[in-house]
Amino acid sequence: MPPHLETAVEIAREAGAVLMARFDRRIAIESKGEYDLVTEADRASERLIVERLSVQFPSHGIVAEEGGGHEGMSGFRWYVDPLDGTTNFAHGFPCFNVTMALESAGELIAGVIFDPVRDEMFTAERGAGAFLNTKRIHVSEVAKLADSLVATGFPSRKRHLHVNIHFYHQLAMVTHGIRRCGSAAIDLAYVACGRLDAFWEIGLNPWDMAAGLLLLAEAGGRYSDMHGQPHQLRGPDLLVDNGLIHDEILGMFGEIFRGQYRVPIPAIGD
Ligand code: IPD
Ligand code: CA
Ligand code: CA
Repeated sequence: MPPHLETAVEIAREAGAVLMARFDRRIAIESKGEYDLVTEADRASERLIVERLSVQFPSHGIVAEEGGGHEGMSGFRWYVDPLDGTTNFAHGFPCFNVTMALESAGELIAGVIFDPVRDEMFTAERGAGAFLNTKRIHVSEVAKLADSLVATGFPSRKRHLHVNIHFYHQLAMVTHGIRRCGSAAIDLAYVACGRLDAFWEIGLNPWDMAAGLLLLAEAGGRYSDMHGQPHQLRGPDLLVDNGLIHDEILGMFGEIFRGQYRVPIPAIGD
């Protein structure tokens, strides 16, 4: 394993232990904004990750969700989400992870997503494949939306403006089902290893997606924005899948963007 990835794996495991030591103890929940939660666990995990990365790679920049990062003096930059799935964590719902990715000269080169509840370590390095623990992973071979299991998420912020419910409803009508696990990096990892066939979300941040996108690409998947344009790490929305159902989903998203619904949302009482 190359040194960047090896170090990231060690740090993610340590940060996972920090989270597990606080999980299920009903620790205090604070609000960053309306319905946007943060806990002492987010901050303790971030402190540990930033400290460790700064010692190992002093010239690297760090972008971390809770603001503990700093500019670097090299072309390397880490994206860190010290606890992805804070709302789940705060309620004792066992679906969350630690995720870190390394960018060099604008390209993602290494990524880690660690689920400490299931002891699942997802890793990827550019050009060297994607792995779950030590096993190579690949996207699924499901070729039709009608045979797929998909996932999405709803950000905590600006809920009143959120249009994803339209996409949620239409996709729910034409797939085996939609899962909303509340942890975007886990959704991405699950598409990469074939547990899910597609995932989309509007309003994610770079630290939510960076590791998952590399994992997905290395596992043979495809991603774009929800209009089919190349996805940007700071872009407004994301669609990822196994590559086989990408065009079919984009076709359906196009209809929804134009206000054409295959199945109208029923009125209460229908
Ligand atoms: C959130 C989770 C959630 C997604 C939100 C993210 P956080 O991250 O990934 O699944 O729907 O958009 O903000 O705040 O728990 O790190
Ligand atoms: Ca997150
Ligand atoms: Ca977070």
